[in-house]
Amino acid sequence: MLTDDERARRDDMAASESAGISAGDQGVATLLAAGRGTHGKTSYESNADVQRWLQEQALEEGGTRGAFTPTFLAHQRDRLWVLSSLRHFYEERLIADVLAVAKSGKEANVYCCAADPATGAEFLAAKVYRPRMFRNLKNDAVYRRGRAQLDERGREVRGPRVWRGANRDTERGRAAQVASWIQYEFQTLRLLYEAGADVPGPIAQIGNAELMEFVGTGTEAAPALREVTLDREEARGVFDRILRNVELALACDRVHGDLSAYNVLYHAGAPVIIDFAQAVDPRYSPEAGDLLARDVERICRHFARYGVEADAAALAADLWERYLRGEV
Ligand SMILES: Nc1ncnc2c1ncn2[C@@H]1O[C@H](COP(=O)(O)OP(=O)(O)OP(=O)(O)O)[C@@H](O)[C@H]1O
Ligand SMILES: [Mg+2]
Repeated sequence: MLTDDERARRDDMAASESAGISAGDQGVATLLAAGRGTHGKTSYESNADVQRWLQEQALEEGGTRGAFTPTFLAHQRDRLWVLSSLRHFYEERLIADVLAVAKSGKEANVYCCAADPATGAEFLAAKVYRPRMFRNLKNDAVYRRGRAQLDERGREVRGPRVWRGANRDTERGRAAQVASWIQYEFQTLRLLYEAGADVPGPIAQIGNAELMEFVGTGTEAAPALREVTLDREEARGVFDRILRNVELALACDRVHGDLSAYNVLYHAGAPVIIDFAQAVDPRYSPEAGDLLARDVERICRHFARYGVEADAAALAADLWERYLRGEV
């Protein structure tokens, strides 16, 4: 019997092979067949529609810039998936190389990339959603009520028009939904960054990949709050700053939805909030008030260890009431 994790890895492997847009001497058709052979039935990701969609998202093979063959990826089991996901950023002269994996998570891997000199940055972070995100979407946050669906141009679509052009009963439609959901995360990042929040600067997003400022020292990602111990005096300042960010996000009509000491990095003495995959717009999401209360509660609980006294429920209620009155 395979464990869930082994099964997921196997699926990812098959999917990354079948996603081989520039797979050297193996044609896409061969890879698709190989992907099917690996586990007896067609994996979601090796579906021809999903593959076609991925190819449309990335540029066509043989772009203007020559081969994109980061040596770091050579021995990564999901190299083909990652290559096809990041190729566009290379073609657009945003990244020059992939240097290291910053974190390999359940839903996404984050890579440290060498920035193209034209960007003015030395390193950039690329968050690449894994193939398994293209499955089981019915259980996913994308179905959360009130979540904006974006059309091909990234504009919000609501109501009966929502599913037009992205028929959710087709594989292609579902792939488009994942894209919409990742676009929404990236739009949230951009919105908050422009409002002056402590978030990584957004660079670009396409398909299943987002490119943003790399938060860290050299190629080493900054630790999460969960992984550091702060001085008591410093802790109060960091706590207050996170709550200011929560309020700033509300002023932008966003609730993080998964705020915790894991999704706040600690860099140069300040918090940097990441991972907006669960973010919701309280104008449309009936869950927003509860999610806000949970976000605030988790932050308060984390900082209690430093003696920071705060009444999470009262803080969240005050923020929410001021939001409803239009006073944040
Ligand atoms: N901009 C960034 N700069 C540096 N490192 C980053 C950046 N964004 C993310 N990371 C690293 O990648 C990790 C995962 O990122 P994120 O939380 O956005 O993805 P995730 O899908 O939630 O992954 P997980 O399931 O592990 O939580 C972070 O904890 C951090 O270590
Ligand atoms: Mg996270």
